[in-house]
Amino acid sequence: MFQGSGLKGMILPVILLFLATLQEASSHGDNPLAGIAIHEARFALEESAFIKASPGVLGAQGGNPEWVTLSFTSANPSNDDWIGVFSPANFSAAICDSEGSMAGAPFLCTAPIKFQYANYSSPRYKDTGKGSLRLLLINQRSDFSFALFSGGLSKPKLVAVSNKVTFANPNAPLYPRLAQGKTWNEMTVTWTSGYGISSAEPFIEWGQKGDVRVRSPAGTLTIDRSSMCGPPARTVGWRDPGFIHTSFLKELWPNTVYTYKLGHKLFNGTYIWSPEYQFKASPYPGQDSVQRVVIFGDMGKDEPDGSNVYNNYQHGALNTTKQLIDDLKNIDIVFHIGDIVYANGYISQWDQFTAQVAPITSKVPYMVASGNHERDWPGSGSFYGTKDSGGECGVMAETMFYVPAENRAKFWYSTDYGMFRFCVADTEHDWREGTEQYEFIERCFASADRRKQPWLIFIAHRVLGYSSASWYGAQGSFEEPMGRESLQKLWQKYKVDIAFYGHVHNYERTCPIYQNICLDKEKHNYKGPFNGTIHVVAGGGGSGLADFTPLNTTWSLFKDHDYGFTKLTAFDHSNLLFEYKKSSDGKVYDSFTINRDYRDILACSVDNCSPTTLAS
Ligand SMILES: *[C@@H]1O[C@H](CO)[C@@H](O)[C@H](O)[C@H]1NC(C)=O
Ligand SMILES: *[C@@H]1O[C@H](CO)[C@@H](O)[C@H](O)[C@H]1NC(C)=O
Ligand SMILES: *[C@@H]1O[C@H](CO)[C@@H](O)[C@H](O)[C@H]1NC(C)=O
Ligand SMILES: *[C@@H]1O[C@H](CO)[C@@H](O)[C@H](O)[C@H]1NC(C)=O
Ligand SMILES: *[C@@H]1O[C@H](CO)[C@@H](O)[C@H](O)[C@H]1NC(C)=O
Ligand SMILES: *[C@@H]1O[C@H](CO)[C@@H](O)[C@H](O)[C@H]1NC(C)=O
Ligand SMILES: [Fe+2]
Repeated sequence: MFQGSGLKGMILPVILLFLATLQEASSHGDNPLAGIAIHEARFALEESAFIKASPGVLGAQGGNPEWVTLSFTSANPSNDDWIGVFSPANFSAAICDSEGSMAGAPFLCTAPIKFQYANYSSPRYKDTGKGSLRLLLINQRSDFSFALFSGGLSKPKLVAVSNKVTFANPNAPLYPRLAQGKTWNEMTVTWTSGYGISSAEPFIEWGQKGDVRVRSPAGTLTIDRSSMCGPPARTVGWRDPGFIHTSFLKELWPNTVYTYKLGHKLFNGTYIWSPEYQFKASPYPGQDSVQRVVIFGDMGKDEPDGSNVYNNYQHGALNTTKQLIDDLKNIDIVFHIGDIVYANGYISQWDQFTAQVAPITSKVPYMVASGNHERDWPGSGSFYGTKDSGGECGVMAETMFYVPAENRAKFWYSTDYGMFRFCVADTEHDWREGTEQYEFIERCFASADRRKQPWLIFIAHRVLGYSSASWYGAQGSFEEPMGRESLQKLWQKYKVDIAFYGHVHNYERTCPIYQNICLDKEKHNYKGPFNGTIHVVAGGGGSGLADFTPLNTTWSLFKDHDYGFTKLTAFDHSNLLFEYKKSSDGKVYDSFTINRDYRDILACSVDNCSPTTLAS
């Protein structure tokens, strides 16, 4: 059963505790640990092997993330030896079967937060048996340990476990995420901490820059394993996501700079504070001023120290994040339109993602849409029965990010930003005529006062309009089935300027189009009355790039097989600039403008005005 005799202190108690948990869980009938093959555990702890981590305490000066240096030795070194990062530190290393379709090696009962080959920074490790490695850790509310494994990722054998490493305050309030509230003058702040409602009161202390501070209370949500729909989220991928707090900052003065701090008042009277952040309140709907919006999908996360995580295929993510941070003073609001984290049921990655984007989300509203990797799970009410959410079935996305939806489980909403009206759909729920969502989309378009909000934008994750993705091309539809058939009459009737999609990991732009026909020969400077909606695929945020079909269509004006994002700049009610930028250099590779007066929006074209009468 167990190989090797040198079981070091901590492991055996862990296994016993683990068995006790297993028994307790099975008495509930629904046993989330049922798939764990404890009898297959392999331990090969070597007396002479060791792994040591320093420093033992991180973030004593408030730093996060922080570097840890590992040094390690093995008597039987090999090039496929690897090091896993575990948190909490008292992990179980028992080997499990692969769990669920998204799971991959390394096959362990507890998913490592991340992992790296032992030879990564020590090319001579195989010969010398000695190595060192530097890893970047983020505060995730618990301690860490590092384990050296032999046997590669597919048959891991535990060789040595390190000392524990912890952040000075593991519970600290972290990763603030701004989002527009339900009204134009409300900003919401969502953050993560280790303080539940029985240990502290969460709040935001805020005010106009340099003015008096007020405190607004925050609500607290938690997520437990039983709210996950299946593996790996419910099994090996589960990790306690901590406490998620949201506070509503109301009655903001438009365009005003506010500073804020996340706070927790412990019940013994001690206050815990985050650093101070600042944001600029949103403009009044219709306000004439320069307004800049960034839109992209499918970004995901990547590890800056080069280590691996499960679902490690978003290698453009850090470049996109960097470009946005570098240009943040020229960005007012961000839309990440689905496939947000690609945690796919490995819950710790939500921390990794919120840490990655915190420099953005703490300063400008970060509005998300729901994608297949947030929501889809068989038998869970998603429109598609795939397992793309890895068992999360929407719960993580709906809790970790605020959106001003009536019901966050139905992820559609509208939001206004000055001269823009955004109607954000949820393609993981039915959108066809006659559904609740279709009614919402029509109401959102119809209620935009185009004199005040001339720029009407439709957003959805899957391509409901037009895309030359290889798989859509092969189907001959160039869209998600039933996409434009259901919605094109609404886009045309309500003169939607631009429709944005993700899901397809590349960039593409169409002509102004209706019913598959280009209604405008112009390619860059659209002037005068509306002819048709322009469709943009902006799914190159970071996830592995998607190929285009070799078929060329008349409507596709620009394609780019690279990582990138798009930006809208409204200069005033008559002038809009669209830009596509690459994530590698932040430069503009495609652009167009729309110039028009209000009468051009009122003017009639194909299928968008009610019939006129000659009667007087
Ligand atoms: C590990 O430690 C945490 C507290 O840090 C505790 O809640 C948990 O039960 C422990 N797990 C095991 C398997 O000992
Ligand atoms: C390190 O190990 C990996 C995985 O086994 C291997 O692909 C790589 O070639 C090794 N690097 C060196 C420098 O030996
Ligand atoms: C209150 O509790 C915190 C956390 O347990 C502790 O660090 C702090 O010293 C306590 N403060 C007082 C005044 O007892
Ligand atoms: C719409 O088409 C008409 C006729 O071709 C053209 O004059 C007009 O400029 C077009 N509108 C836009 C916004 O391009
Ligand atoms: C489609 O257009 C691209 C770019 O202009 C060209 O390289 C390709 O050969 C065209 N494909 C077909 C089938 O005509
Ligand atoms: C990220 O940007 C750098 C610098 O421009 C570039 O060399 C690299 O190829 C980019 N990475 C990806 C995955 O595109
Ligand atoms: Fe997707």
